[in-house]
Amino acid sequence: MATSDTEQNKLEQLRQSIDACDRQLAALFEERMQLVLGVADYKLENGLAIFDSAREKQILQAAAEKYGSQFPREMQQFFRSMMRVSRALQARKLFPYNIVLIGFMGTGKSTVGQILADHLGRRFVDLDAQLEREQRTTIAEIFRSQGENVFRQLEQEMIAKYSGEGERVLSCGGGAVLRKDNVDLLRSSGCLVLLEADPDTIYKRVRRSQERPLLNGDMTPRAIGERLAERAEAYSKAADIRIWTEGKAPADVADEIVRQLCEKAALDDDFR
Ligand code: S3P
Repeated sequence: MATSDTEQNKLEQLRQSIDACDRQLAALFEERMQLVLGVADYKLENGLAIFDSAREKQILQAAAEKYGSQFPREMQQFFRSMMRVSRALQARKLFPYNIVLIGFMGTGKSTVGQILADHLGRRFVDLDAQLEREQRTTIAEIFRSQGENVFRQLEQEMIAKYSGEGERVLSCGGGAVLRKDNVDLLRSSGCLVLLEADPDTIYKRVRRSQERPLLNGDMTPRAIGERLAERAEAYSKAADIRIWTEGKAPADVADEIVRQLCEKAALDDDFR
């Protein structure tokens, strides 16, 4: 059915009003983003916590209760995404590089990495999981059918592929930094964050896993301790930042990473 001219005009008018609204929103958004960057600079200079979840909650509450009388839920969604964008902008300014999680199996790299990436509004790549997706098989199966050397080669290729683009959170397999070439590549694009835990805790976290080929023959705290000791030097040489994860929830570990990155950014101009 053909719409009448009057109806067409009405739609056109509504659209023009929406465009006018968007122009105002866009101008205010730009202003808000500038202010957000100013806040990040001020906090960094004065050693204050950059990301303040209490402040975010306060803003969201105001969005729902004070500003959103007609559309409280939508208003909250709008503010939630605006704050995510703000956080991503601050993170891009403060840490314009990859954040690379390294460390032994079971230290929480994948869990913490996902939380950290959500928090900073950037993409998370779990290199082992990505390798499995791209190879359409599991790491355990690669170890079984082709051996560790083939796995290490594939791992190196993944690092080369994903470290290049910058501004992501990457989590590496536990053995990734045993090759100096990998460390060089990762360091050239980012900051390496070592997650640490003691052998008993690692054992408790991985003991049921069938997907840890290096431990599956000898899954004991002693074997874990020995392997950790063999790798200790490589891990500490590779690390820009070290985080002891014992007794901390993954979200707290992610917060501590942000804190330490901020300290680094404040101290070290090379990292900004
Ligand atoms: C390995 C750790 C594993 C995986 C592979 C080898 C290692 O990753 O890359 O089984 O050498 O420590 P996670 O540390 O994510 O378990």
